[in-house]
Amino acid sequence: MSKALLDGRAQFEATVEGLTARPRHLPTAWLYDEHGSRLYEAVTRLPEYYLPRREAEILQARSPAIAPRTLIELGSGAATNTRRLLDALPSLEELVLFDVSASILTASAATIARAYPALSVRALVGDFERDLGVLPRGERRLIAFLSSTIGNLTPEQRSRFLTALSASLGNSDAFLVGLDLVKDVHRLGAAYNDEGGTTEAFVRNALTAVNAVLGGTFDQARFSYEARWDARHEWMEIGLRAREAHVVYIRGLGLEVAFNADELLRVEISAKFRRQVFEGELDRAGLGLESWWTDAAGDYAVALAFRN
Ligand SMILES: C[S@@+](CC[C@H](N)C(=O)[O-])C[C@H]1O[C@@H](n2cnc3c(N)ncnc32)[C@H](O)[C@@H]1O
Repeated sequence: MSKALLDGRAQFEATVEGLTARPRHLPTAWLYDEHGSRLYEAVTRLPEYYLPRREAEILQARSPAIAPRTLIELGSGAATNTRRLLDALPSLEELVLFDVSASILTASAATIARAYPALSVRALVGDFERDLGVLPRGERRLIAFLSSTIGNLTPEQRSRFLTALSASLGNSDAFLVGLDLVKDVHRLGAAYNDEGGTTEAFVRNALTAVNAVLGGTFDQARFSYEARWDARHEWMEIGLRAREAHVVYIRGLGLEVAFNADELLRVEISAKFRRQVFEGELDRAGLGLESWWTDAAGDYAVALAFRN
C-alpha cells in the first residue's frame, strides 16, 4: 500500500481552524478512525439508514454503459457497493481504493483482492480534498464517489473538489457519484436518529479520537447529540451540543476552546441534492451530466458525468 500521503499537520490545522470558527466544527475525517469506520459500517446496516440500499438498487439496475480499465473509488471505506460495480464492469483490470482511513483501506483491499483474484487491487491513503494529484494516470478510468460522501462537503468544498476532479479527468475518463436526494424531513431525521443510538455513538467517537490523538479533554457527558434538518442549506446538521458552558483543552494543539451553554460543535453535514442544482455545480466545474439514475422510490440518485 502506498502511504505517507496523509499529512497529519493538514488535519490538525483544519481542526484548529474548525474549533476556533463560528459555528465550531471538526473535520469529518475524525469520524473515521478504526473504531469509527466499524461504527459507520453498523450505521449502514440500520433500517432507518436507507442510503446504501438505495444506491445498491441503482448500481445493480444501471451499470454505467462504459468500459473502464481502472476503477478508482474515493472514500471507499468498507467498499461494499464497490462490488456491485465490479460485478457490472467485466472490462475492468485494476481497482484503486482511496481513503483517509488506513485501517479500513487495508482490510477492504485484502477482502476484495481475495474475492476478485483476476483484478489488480491497490490501496492509496489520502485526502480527496487535497491529494487527487496522486491518483494513477491512464486511459479509461472511472472515478467513483459513492455513499453520498460528497454530501459531507460544504458547497464551497464541493466546488473546489469538483473543479480539481474535473481538471484531473482525461477524455476517456468518467465520474460516477452517489447522491442522497431532498425528501420528507421526518425520514431524513429518522435516518440520523436511530433508536439504538448507533449513529450517535459514531458521531461521539470523533471526540474520543481527538482526545486520543491530540490529548483533548472532551467530556462526552457535557455534550448532547443532535442531528437536525437545516432547511436553508438543505443539509442534515450533525453534531454535539454543549449542555453547559465549559472549556475543553487540546494539549497537542495548544488550544483552549470555551463552549457556551447550548453551543453546537458540528461534526458533519450531510447535504441532500436536487438534480438541477447539482447539474449546475457540475457544469461550473467543467463537467457535463451524462446520466441521472434514481431508485424506484426516488430517494437517491447516481449520476454519471464526463469532462466537458
Ligand atoms: C460515508 S463513508 C462511505 C464509506 C464507503 N464508501 C461505504 O459506503 O462503506 C465516507 C468514507 O470517506 C472517507 N473519507 C472521509 N473524508 C475523507 C477525505 N477527506 N479523504 C479521503 N477519504 C475520506 C472515510 O474514511 C470513509 O471511509
